[in-house]
Amino acid sequence: MPTEAGLAEAPGPRVFRDAMGVFTTGVAVISTELDGQPHGMTANSLTSVSLDPPLLLVCLDRRSRTAAAVLSTGGFVVNVLTRRQRHLADRFARPGRAHFADLPFVLTPDGLPALPGCAARFECAVDAAHPGGDHHIVVGRVLACRRSPESPLVFYRGRYHRLGGAGHDDVLAVS
Ligand SMILES: Cc1cc2nc3c(=O)[nH]c(=O)nc-3n(C[C@H](O)[C@H](O)[C@H](O)COP(=O)(O)O)c2cc1C
Repeated sequence: MPTEAGLAEAPGPRVFRDAMGVFTTGVAVISTELDGQPHGMTANSLTSVSLDPPLLLVCLDRRSRTAAAVLSTGGFVVNVLTRRQRHLADRFARPGRAHFADLPFVLTPDGLPALPGCAARFECAVDAAHPGGDHHIVVGRVLACRRSPESPLVFYRGRYHRLGGAGHDDVLAVS
């Protein structure tokens, strides 16, 4: 069987990230709390795992403060951002910042911080955490979820987009 040119070598991080960027995703903020402090980070590694029981997963960088808080607290919220919430995607991706500073949020029945006005929200208990290279693969059991009619923020090839009508996708900005 002939080897296809350009597909045989193990990729470096940049090449891998760029290729994965073709796989279009939504954008979420993973939020939790630890010792009374809210934590949150932007994530697009969200995947549905199981319908019965309802499970999802997110892959969280081992260096992330939010990952440490999620694993310690044992619960987290997935806030799926709308097309109007790009500023939240930017805010929660800035390394080292107090992401919740001066930001209004609500508390779930479990006392976890959640962002109002999202396209969907999943309230989760940590079901399992697996090693995944430089990330933790965190499986969450969905305790409650809700959705709104708002259109989602979309991430494709390293840029934010919003879904347009009649095939007119709108590039919001270059990241
Ligand atoms: C669009 C987008 C998607 C991201 N997805 C992830 C992800 O799935 N997992 C992850 O660990 N980091 C992801 N990041 C990077 C984190 O948001 C970033 O490292 C953040 O500053 C971590 O914050 P923390 O250290 O306060 O938890 C993403 C960033 C962007 C802009």
